[in-house]
Parts: sequence; structure tokens; C-alpha cells
Amino acid sequence: MVHLDGDITVSDGHLVFDGVDVVALARRVATPFFVFSPRRIRWNVSAMVNAFTRRHLDTEIFFASKACSNLWFLDQVRRAGINLEVNSGGELWKAQRAGFAPAQIIFNGVAKTRDEIRAAVEAGVRALVVDSVYELERIAEVAAAVGRPAAVDLRVDVNVATLTHPGLVTAHGGKPGIDLDDALEAFAFAGAHEALAPRGLHLHIGSQITGVEPYLAAVEKGLDLIEAVAAAGVPLDHLNAGGGFAIPYRDQPVCEPVDYFCSALTIDDYAEAICGVLERRRPGLKLLLEPGRSISGNTALLVTTIENTKVKGLRDAAGRRVGDERWLTVDAGFNTLLEHTNYRWYYRTVVASRAAEAADTPFRLAGPLCDGGDVFAGDDDTPYRSFPAATAPGDVVVFFDAGAYSLEMMNPYNARPRAAAYAAHEGEIQMIRAADTLDDLIACDVEPGASTAATRAGGKAPAGS
Ligand code: LLP
Repeated sequence: MVHLDGDITVSDGHLVFDGVDVVALARRVATPFFVFSPRRIRWNVSAMVNAFTRRHLDTEIFFASKACSNLWFLDQVRRAGINLEVNSGGELWKAQRAGFAPAQIIFNGVAKTRDEIRAAVEAGVRALVVDSVYELERIAEVAAAVGRPAAVDLRVDVNVATLTHPGLVTAHGGKPGIDLDDALEAFAFAGAHEALAPRGLHLHIGSQITGVEPYLAAVEKGLDLIEAVAAAGVPLDHLNAGGGFAIPYRDQPVCEPVDYFCSALTIDDYAEAICGVLERRRPGLKLLLEPGRSISGNTALLVTTIENTKVKGLRDAAGRRVGDERWLTVDAGFNTLLEHTNYRWYYRTVVASRAAEAADTPFRLAGPLCDGGDVFAGDDDTPYRSFPAATAPGDVVVFFDAGAYSLEMMNPYNARPRAAAYAAHEGEIQMIRAADTLDDLIACDVEPGASTAATRAGGKAPAGS
């Protein structure tokens, strides 16, 4: 069943996204491609800003650019009035290219190089979020050499259990952050160092978190720590509660607690939880947030074409044929939607060219890559997607909620050009990213026989300056 949001409709059997017939578009330009809705970006930003500032006025939102750092997208976010979180020298560089002022940028990361730290300190970002005591010393050293104290937040693992995909847990003995037991000492060190200016506590607890309880626990623990840090003589002016708000990838009437693709929560629920604790305990403390998925996730569709079909036998353990399976292969796989195999992520699909037909026939759905893992997860607990019975090569399949961690994580595996992206608005289309050309596929290869002088300078990636 297609869940039709207000700006997704069906006309003449075709799916229409903000006035754009995606089937007609797929026949005009090469698939696969992403199509974004600037209207949805603005909706999501204003829903987020309103939900939090209504309950806690002193809230600032920093979009997590790793979710989608396309320059057009960053420009939309900036114009919508929020700031940016970056995670590398490359993301810092893109943020500045997109027009964000340094005071609008927070710099995160679990392995910052000295070059990245220098670029962030020289630019004067709002805060570098520190991942370890070792890194605190490294930042102090670089800041002293630059001759400007570094504003720092300390990321602390507040050790709360989160109900989400096991790969996305970050605050329960995962990779990021300083151990809670060492946090007080780390803040005291930062407070005493003249090259460091400690400003806040950072506690991003994971992604696609489908309950509010982890936030309640994390904010309580964070405020306890902020009080202890203040008592030790280091007053902080903000709590950064990170991002992680879930979006409903799966459309179910009732969500099972273990189904992290299904979420019944709204941004108001998260705001109520986080701001509720803050207002009760520290109404004067500034709140920072770093949402990614909940800003960009539902703003894009991925549009693909079916290229192949077949029927294969379904066999039991003894090899006897016990039924048939109908397969469909589309032109986008984990080169375009990496998370479908990386995390077995679930994206709703609909046959956009048969949007008015009953979707009642089970199909296996696969990507085009020469890799046995490039098969899409099925609906519910089955390996199958329900599509109209007549679905066949040439039909257009759309993946919903493809705006977070997708465009961003594309790769050219099997020498498949990375996809283009368009923005759709009231029937008009604008290209916001070209597909790779064949030349792009070899742009960084050194051609056999080329003189080394003719190749690019080898070595380091940009540090962000
Ligand atoms: N802040 C920090 C420090 C983060 O590590 C992340 C996400 C965010 C904010 C934004 O979280 P969000 O609001 O988007 O949940 N590739 C994976 C997601 C990795 C998330 C990484 N960190 C995926 O496709 O699910």
C-alpha cells in the first residue's frame, strides 16, 4: 500500500511528487536519480525549530551535514535558518563553500587530524567537539600554535541503552566519546588550559532512535555532569543533545519495539522529552541539537527503472522445487543506496508507473551489481515486495525516504556512474547534481604510461582550508 503524503499524488496511474510526474521524468532523463523537495526541507526545518523553541526558547539547530552535504541541499538548509554540524575537513570546506559562517559550524569527529583541527581553529568554528582526553591535548597544542584558544565541547558517552539498529548505537560503550568516569577530570583539564575554552557537553546517543526514554535518561545524566563540572569551577553554557530522531521508513499501523524502521514518534515527542527535563532542571541552559535524518530523510525519492526479470524455482533444503519466485532487477543497488546492504536498511518502494494498480503480487527485488548481497530486504518478515502483477522491465520503481545517508554514501562500484539528483517544486525540475560521466570514473586513476608530472599531486586530502 502506498502511503501518500500531501505532496505525493497519483495522476493517470503515475506517481507525482510536488507536481512532477516521476515516470515522465524517468523517461526523459537517465535513471537512477534522486529527486528532492525543497518544500519538505523547509517543512522539516520549521517543524524542528518550532517544536523545540516553543518548549525551550534558547535552542539552536545544527543540521548534521553527513546526512546530505550536497551544496544545493546545504544552501536550502542555511536559507531555512539553521546551522551546520560537520565531521571532517572536507565537510568543513563544503560548509564554508555553502556560505555558513564559522560561528554557525560545529566540528565533530573521532579521529581529527592536526590539519583538520588547525583549519577549524583558524576558521573560528563555534566549537570543536572533543572525542578523547588525548584529543583534548592535541587540540590544545594546535590552538597554542595558532595563537587562539579553541572553543571545545566534550563528547561524553553517558552510557544509556538505545533501541535502534545495532550498528547505530553510540552511547553505550560504542566508539565515540569520553568515558563518563573520566569526564569530570577531562573538563577540569580543559578549564585549566589557557589554549582551551570549554563551552558545553555533547552527548549524541545514536541514530534512528525509536523511543524517547534514551533521551530522558541521557539529558538527566548530562545535566548531572554539567552540575558536577560547574561545582568543579568550569561553568558550561550549553548541552548538545545530538540528533538521532527516528523517521518512519516502514508504514505500519502499530510499531513493534524491535522494529527500528517503524516509528510512531513525532518531533514534538522528542522535543517534549528533552525540553521537559531541561525546563524542570536548567531552564536557562542553551540547548544545541544536531539532527540529520529527521531533516533530510523524507525530502528525497530515488527513482529507478526495472531492467530485468525472471522466474526461478523456490527450493527446499533437499533441492526440490516447492514453488516459484519472480525476480525484478532495478538499475540502482548498493552503489546508490549503500545502507540497503551495509545495514540491511528498509526503504518503502512503489511501482510509480503502476501507482493506481493493486500491489498484491510478491516479487524479489534486486539491484544491478555483480554481488550476491545486492538484493533488497522484503516487506514485513518476508523476502518479497508486493507490486502489481504486471510489473515488468521498463516500469519505474521509486524508493521513499532516500534523502539521508544515500546521495552522501554513493560509490561507483562496478564502474556505475553515481546518480544525478534533481529538485522538484510545483512541477518544475532543477538539476542539483549531475551523474558521473565515464571520464569521472577514471578521473583519479593514473593512466598507464602517463608521466608523474602530468598527474595530480599525490598524498593528502584537503584539510578544510
Ligand atoms: N551528530 C553526530 C555526532 C552523529 O554521529 C550523527 C550521526 C548525527 C549527529 C546525526 O544523526 P541523525 O539525526 O541523522 O540520526 N549511515 C547511517 C547513519 C550513521 C549516523 C552517523 N551519525 C545510516 O544510514 O543509518
